[in-house]
Amino acid sequence: MLKRPGYDPETKDWFWAKFKADGSLDTNPKGMMLAGKVAKGKPKGCIACHSAAPGGDFMFLRN
Ligand code: HEC
Repeated sequence: MLKRPGYDPETKDWFWAKFKADGSLDTNPKGMMLAGKVAKGKPKGCIACHSAAPGGDFMFLRN
């Protein structure tokens, strides 16, 4: 996850991406690239699950 100021205030400007071990972008089972507002508005996926994180910033772990 990467903060991009102004990207999408509704999801706190997070850019979501999932990479494979070889550095290429991962895809979901339907072949959709996992990058950007991944699964925004869907019942499952990066944003749906991370919206349950405490603190209101989609982050589970903080240091
Ligand atoms: C089913 C729920 C769920 C989904 C879906 C999910 N995550 Fe997470 N994610 C978590 C949890 C819980 C953690 C906390 C880390 C841990 O406990 O191992 C986490 C941790 C992370 C972290 C580390 C920062 C943090 O919040 O702690 C990143 C980055 C991350 N996820 C990105 C993504 C991306 C990108 C996607 C979609 C491709 C995604 N996640 C989908 C539940 C989810």
